[in-house]
Amino acid sequence: MGMRILGWGTALPDKIVTNHDLEKTLDTSDKWIVERTGIRERRIGDSTGELAIAAGRRALQRANVDASSIELTILATTTPDQTVPATSAHVHEALALGGGAFDLNAACSGFVYGLVTANALLDAGAKRILLIGAETLSRITDWSDRNTAVLFGDGGGALVLERVAGEGQLLASDLGIDGTARSFLQSDIGAKIKMDGREIFKRAVRAMVKSSEQTLKSAKVRANEVKLVVPHQANIRIIHAACDRLGIAQDRAAIVLDRTGNTSSASIPLALVDAIDKGRLADGDLVLLTGFGAGMTWGSALIRWQEPTSK
Ligand code: UT7
Repeated sequence: MGMRILGWGTALPDKIVTNHDLEKTLDTSDKWIVERTGIRERRIGDSTGELAIAAGRRALQRANVDASSIELTILATTTPDQTVPATSAHVHEALALGGGAFDLNAACSGFVYGLVTANALLDAGAKRILLIGAETLSRITDWSDRNTAVLFGDGGGALVLERVAGEGQLLASDLGIDGTARSFLQSDIGAKIKMDGREIFKRAVRAMVKSSEQTLKSAKVRANEVKLVVPHQANIRIIHAACDRLGIAQDRAAIVLDRTGNTSSASIPLALVDAIDKGRLADGDLVLLTGFGAGMTWGSALIRWQEPTSK
């Protein structure tokens, strides 16, 4: 058994914070941020639960399924609203979902970890799963630290996934973690993010390339057959370096970070849905999702795109 994608949705807070806004409080410039990261603005506000609920509601509407038919909700987040209970409990109640729900924390690789987990649970017998990535990184960002404050934003994205006979849309995947690198990007409970940007940069490119290559190899697919890469949206230079090393044209990457900044678990679904909405995908296209994050985690998944209506 495999999975098919039935619906999708995203949510962003209303408040836009531009690089020029940050120039007023930090020793930084729009020019530096754009050149070094590709980010122009980010959205700030709401709670993780609110963003997850809004994105989940849109995905259910797009899928045209009843919320009670969802048998499991997986919320990938590194910024839950409370330590206990899981933020997915709020989402479950607000959307009147069926079945169980849990949060998953694999930092910025969380959505890919969630997709691979969902696929395995559908194969094991679950019928429908709501997978969400939602974050309010603004709450754990030190707004006086120019090394991190220019990077992060808030947002959410969701997919409704359904069990299907046969291979399904997830063709291959790769998940990994190197716990020896966990000090390079961390936030203690109640504290703000601390990051060694240069170290993360180097390791991010390496991890995305290795994990993508492993995934393509498992699926027996060549890099030039990939129609769209949906990378974690951290830094345009990381994305371009990874594409170059993989031999995939840079313009095949889905990009939203100019408008969203780095939204951790939400960044891959935000970029994927943006590409779908722009009509960048046709039936049969191969889509490579690839991410990295604190841990350090990494994860890649190769999907064969299928318009839900054409099934
Ligand atoms: O989801 C994973 C999250 N994290 C990441 O993906 C982070 C990965 N790393 C990066 O994206 C980049 O390393 C950064 C964007 C964080 C930094 O870019 P960089 O090109 O690696 O800059 P750098 O750290 O080598 O710093 C170059 C200079 C330094 O000044 P000096 O020492 O050369 O005088 C920094 O102090 O740029 C300075 N700098 C800034 N200047 C203006 C650092 N941040 C800023 C800033 N505005 N916001």
